[in-house]
Amino acid sequence: MDRPGGQNGPMAPVDVDLRIRRFNPDRDSRPHWQTYRVRAEPTDRVLDALHTVRWEQDGTLAFRRSCAHGVCGSDAMMINGANALACIELIRDAAGRRGGTITIEAIRGLPLIKDLVVDMEPFFAQYRSVLPYLVAGDDPGAHERRQSPDDRARFDDTTKCILCAACTTACPVFWGNSGYVGPAAIVNAHRFIFDSRDSGGRRRLDLLDDRSGAWRCRTAFSCTEACPRGIKVTAAIQEVKRAIVSDRL
Ligand code: SF4
Ligand code: FES
Repeated sequence: MDRPGGQNGPMAPVDVDLRIRRFNPDRDSRPHWQTYRVRAEPTDRVLDALHTVRWEQDGTLAFRRSCAHGVCGSDAMMINGANALACIELIRDAAGRRGGTITIEAIRGLPLIKDLVVDMEPFFAQYRSVLPYLVAGDDPGAHERRQSPDDRARFDDTTKCILCAACTTACPVFWGNSGYVGPAAIVNAHRFIFDSRDSGGRRRLDLLDDRSGAWRCRTAFSCTEACPRGIKVTAAIQEVKRAIVSDRL
């Protein structure tokens, strides 16, 4: 039976301090921390608390979001030191059931524009560099490009990517070398390299067989831990490395 405030019962609202790393390029020479107290349900998302701040306390706070349901990938940020989507991270997980402090920062390794907003263009340029689209081979004529369930399963995991950049901006190699194409780009290359209908695999493998490509990965697993979609990012990178080698033999 549900008991109010118990394990299964409704939980009372809690006070949460959002400690946010802020930066206004028009005014600040460097980022600084600012704390806002909000009242929230433990089952609210961190994004709800950020909305409360922006709509009720400080309209200058800048952050991105769109779908609010873990689909668009626009609200990746560092929450308590780990990359996550603010729209799926619950207050009770980030602050505890009785409330507490949540630390929020922009994702690392991309140019900071304002508060929690970074310039995503370098990330998308790396994504575009791996030909993230189907390269059609022979014209199938009036027929479909058919694929067996087993062939479809070969790249199923990497189709789940929402381009949130949580993996790439959690990668210590990327922090030290922004020229590294990064986990997200390799995940999206994987999605087409292993698609039986695609003819661009060789070109993608050549692109990734490079100093800035897949060999930069040091299997730190930070990307896999950061992915909000549960994609086995490191395993996908390893499969691409093996394909590069086996394709050369
Ligand atoms: S692989 Fe995961 S963490 Fe990386 S961009 Fe795609 S969804 Fe985001
Ligand atoms: S707002 Fe779309 S994924 Fe969070």
